[in-house]
Amino acid sequence: MSSKVKTAKITVSADLGTHVINRNIYGHFAEHLGRCIYEGIFVGKNSPIPNKKGIRTDIVDALRKIKIPVLRWPGGCFADEYHWKDGIGPAENRKKMINTHWGGVVEDNSFGTHEFFKLCELLECEPYVCGNVGSGSVQEMSEWIEYMNFGGESPMANLRRENGSENPFNLKYFGVGNENWGCGGNMRAEKYADLYRQYATYCRNYGDNTLYRIACGPNDDNYHWTKVMMREAGHMMEGLALHYYTRLNGSTILSKNPDGNQIRIRGEKPFASSAIEFDAQEWFDIMACAWHTDELVRKHSTIMDEYDPHKKVALIIDEWGTWFDVEPGTNPGFLYQQNTMRDAVSAAISLNIFNNHADRVRMANIAQTINVLQAVILTEGEKMILTPTYHIFDQFSPHQDAALLPISLEAQEYSRGGISIPGLSVSASKTKARDVFLTIANPDPDNAVELSMDIRPCVAKSIEGSIITSSKMQDHNTFEEPDKVRLSNFNAAKITESGIKAQIPAMSVIALKIVA
Ligand code: AHR
Repeated sequence: MSSKVKTAKITVSADLGTHVINRNIYGHFAEHLGRCIYEGIFVGKNSPIPNKKGIRTDIVDALRKIKIPVLRWPGGCFADEYHWKDGIGPAENRKKMINTHWGGVVEDNSFGTHEFFKLCELLECEPYVCGNVGSGSVQEMSEWIEYMNFGGESPMANLRRENGSENPFNLKYFGVGNENWGCGGNMRAEKYADLYRQYATYCRNYGDNTLYRIACGPNDDNYHWTKVMMREAGHMMEGLALHYYTRLNGSTILSKNPDGNQIRIRGEKPFASSAIEFDAQEWFDIMACAWHTDELVRKHSTIMDEYDPHKKVALIIDEWGTWFDVEPGTNPGFLYQQNTMRDAVSAAISLNIFNNHADRVRMANIAQTINVLQAVILTEGEKMILTPTYHIFDQFSPHQDAALLPISLEAQEYSRGGISIPGLSVSASKTKARDVFLTIANPDPDNAVELSMDIRPCVAKSIEGSIITSSKMQDHNTFEEPDKVRLSNFNAAKITESGIKAQIPAMSVIALKIVA
């Protein structure tokens, strides 16, 4: 493919902006799945791998660097099979169970409630616990909350004290079940809405702590689920959780919707696509699937607006990320996949979309933190590598809690096979230091974009930039070559009399901090 330079223009209104980009948009999800919790995060206190109370210190340091704001646990599908009392008390007495969803392996419950709160304390992030609706009782759920949050005298609070935690954990974020339309009980929306109301009634607040209750939301484009949940239970929730994975399957077809230039994804067959061996078409398809997030957020938000015009209920993108075939030779139930430039650029598109919908989207959790799906870190024994997606989270971190700025973008599209997606993905914010911060992804693997930026009404004094790019779309980091894809300085943005100019290389993600 011959390359040509495209053109684009961005106008940023730096004096406007009413919504804050909630830092929790940069959240994570860690499930008892494959090598995410065990090996990836928790190695036990007797491990030769450096750890604090069994939690790997290298992982903690790496996640603190990207300012992980919130961590969702213990699942996922695992959550609706998890019985929290199996994971408390002396580790040697804890019950073992089969992790039927994920590889049929033995779960020894050595990582339980106390270990999770210790992890969040080390990470300095908010814990987000997902409860069991699918196979658990109302009593079990309400006792877990009492155990975690009650500071007074009660059976559960006393049990917590016996297990070494005098003070309550004061959990804020609590999920009432996971994917109850699927692995969490295969329910209809109407059935789950009623159950949600029942379970949520017993999700009590203790002391000054107010729970932020997150209801199971829709899968992809199940708009009926959103409608029923908002209509029947919207008044009893603080968040509704959408799950959307960027993936292709055997019969994925990208086509234009009859109602506009949007992407529709069809296909029922099991997915079959490698994380590292793919061609330009599969690159494009993943970019288009990532862009589909925008349509999903808009349409679910429109339904939510009908029932909640003041946007009290947040749309939580509870699980998102790429989903490819497992790496050859690994347990199919462990969902271990590599991570390339394609993951980096598609993550940038998704995060820019979440930022731009900050009025409704107030949390998003990438699936999953370590060794599972679109992981930010991969481990092998004592070794650890940072994936291209990690560097995106690092690069985008100044957006956390910054004020979203309105932008208008004129860009030539990126097209293939009659389908087009926007030629650039962009979001802008004003940070607490009052710098303008822009993140720009060029999804086109062949063509650079000559970009002019008008940041109104500011006069730019200086610019600092960073870039993630590589020579091949399949490039990724390995234990032998851990820094093949990394974050580097980007010095090509220039302040001119007619605004800021920069050439955005093909297949790259740029961040610019503009001091005005
Ligand atoms: O992230 C892997 C799985 O994907 C989760 O357990 C489930 O919620 C979703 O289907």
